[in-house]
Amino acid sequence: MRRRTGVERIVLCFFVYLLVISADGADIKKLNLWPMPKSVSYGHGTLYLSNDFKLNTKGSKFFDASGILKDAFLRSIDVVRATHVIEANTSKIDASLVLKGIHIVVFSPSDELQHGIDESYHLHIPAQGNPLYAHLEAQTVYGAFHGLQTFSQVCHFDMKSRGIMVHQVPWTIVDQPRFSYRGLLIDTSRHYQPLPVIKKVIDSMTYAKLNVLHWHIVDTQSFPLEIPSYPKLWNGAYSMSERYTIADAVEIVSYAKKRGINVLAEIDVPGHAQSWGVGYPSLWPSADCKEPLDVSNEFTFKLIDGILSDFSKIFKYKFIHLGGDEVNTSCWQSTPHVRTWLRRHGMDGSKAYQYFVLRAQKIALSHGYEIINWEETFNNFGSKLSRKTVVHNWLGSGVAQQVVKAGLRCIVSNQDKWYLDHLDALWQDFYTNEPLTNITDPRQQALVLGGEVCAWGEHIDASDIEQTIWPRAAAAAERLWTSYEKLAKDPEQVRGRLSYFRCLLNQRGVAAAPLDGLGRAAPEEPGSCYLQ
Ligand SMILES: *[C@@H]1O[C@H](CO)[C@@H](O)[C@H](O)[C@H]1NC(C)=O
Ligand SMILES: *[C@@H]1O[C@H](CO)[C@@H](O)[C@H](O)[C@H]1NC(C)=O
Ligand SMILES: *[C@@H]1O[C@H](CO)[C@@H](O)[C@H](O)[C@H]1NC(C)=O
Repeated sequence: MRRRTGVERIVLCFFVYLLVISADGADIKKLNLWPMPKSVSYGHGTLYLSNDFKLNTKGSKFFDASGILKDAFLRSIDVVRATHVIEANTSKIDASLVLKGIHIVVFSPSDELQHGIDESYHLHIPAQGNPLYAHLEAQTVYGAFHGLQTFSQVCHFDMKSRGIMVHQVPWTIVDQPRFSYRGLLIDTSRHYQPLPVIKKVIDSMTYAKLNVLHWHIVDTQSFPLEIPSYPKLWNGAYSMSERYTIADAVEIVSYAKKRGINVLAEIDVPGHAQSWGVGYPSLWPSADCKEPLDVSNEFTFKLIDGILSDFSKIFKYKFIHLGGDEVNTSCWQSTPHVRTWLRRHGMDGSKAYQYFVLRAQKIALSHGYEIINWEETFNNFGSKLSRKTVVHNWLGSGVAQQVVKAGLRCIVSNQDKWYLDHLDALWQDFYTNEPLTNITDPRQQALVLGGEVCAWGEHIDASDIEQTIWPRAAAAAERLWTSYEKLAKDPEQVRGRLSYFRCLLNQRGVAAAPLDGLGRAAPEEPGSCYLQ
């Protein structure tokens, strides 16, 4: 990577100096929110956050029976308070300057978390009042969660008073996401990710308002998840301890839901499935040709049905990901019993690939799921896919245009820009990758559900997952959340704000890497967090 020149460093130091000064004083000119809300106005006042900051939900139609709103409230205050020891005693401060709490009104009584729910919110923090409360309104409790995240970003520890202050009041923020699908893929097959690590990733996603954890559970290398219908499948795990029980999976889904995040489960068929045969060798075409899954064997489809039947009890998101990428059918053609089957059914390798994918789709539909498939399925037989298919782009740009023209929905993850394991994809690439490139018809635009950044696990385990994801995922998160007009045309315009957000992640205990250099690079040399 290019190193900064001395002059550039001095100029940057000066800006950081301004940033640090301003973050500490009442007269902040910078708007250090990430992702940028749809509309923001603010003033010049300053308030203290009461030591006894309260949640008030009077007038809310959401009856918080499970306590998820209260928990989200407590978490948002905890991350603010965790940065320093609070020494200020706000009961000694003029009451008109103390924010007593936040009044949250949620209009929908339901806590159902599904694709496309209303995630908008309206946050107002007045400059005065008695008693002085912030006001947050949202259609759903999940919109309120986003409002709480934004609220946490306007709260700062103040070194003089040694308490939490809210600068730039009054604040009025009206916000809603640009796209309904804002995903992050983690891969637990190439390396196992322990439960607490996955939970920490989920927590960090909420800070950037991402809302889908795409769990690429199994692949060629290992099958870590328990499947009650076929209990030998997890024989394909790397070891006894590198496994997830059903209770673990339930816990991940529940933990994510309490944070407004859907879990998209994936089983990638028929390729990428060699580990399945460790427990059930008849899934392999033969002992020395193990992938893709044996298309000629009825047991293959019975087993997929069993997995999806078990999944439907755990993974309540309306989509299931069935993979379908990188299928090399040479094993089918070279294995005598499969070759005979192909001939009898009048199929060549590519027809059999189509047959497999479409049959797996039907099984998923029978369990009530809509389907996501990687783009090769569309590229090879797009017109045959179920109309309930969402095509997941990854190979390159320009695919979304084709998909929506064909009337199907699309998720964008082109690998040159949005693969986190590509360490040479820089934050600027993540920021500028536009899902609606060359799509102008509003009906076609509506078919682009959003996008996803992917942390494929070949070189990712618990030791480096956070710094591989952050801060680059945040750059994509703003592209997916923030309205188009507010996005910077030149990513350098948001460098300071993103740098501020990455330092905020660090302050919250997330190992977000420096902005400059390759992905997850170490800091270049001694210096302020805001300079890296
Ligand atoms: C804060 O100040 C009030 C009033 O002087 C006092 O009663 C209270 O004990 C103090 N609280 C703490 C935590 O020091
Ligand atoms: C498919 O696999 C066969 C056997 O491993 C290999 O020889 C061939 O090059 C592969 N084809 C492609 C397109 O990767
Ligand atoms: C978008 O359209 C322009 C002009 O036709 C073309 O040069 C560019 O390659 C297209 N971009 C993508 C991602 O297809």
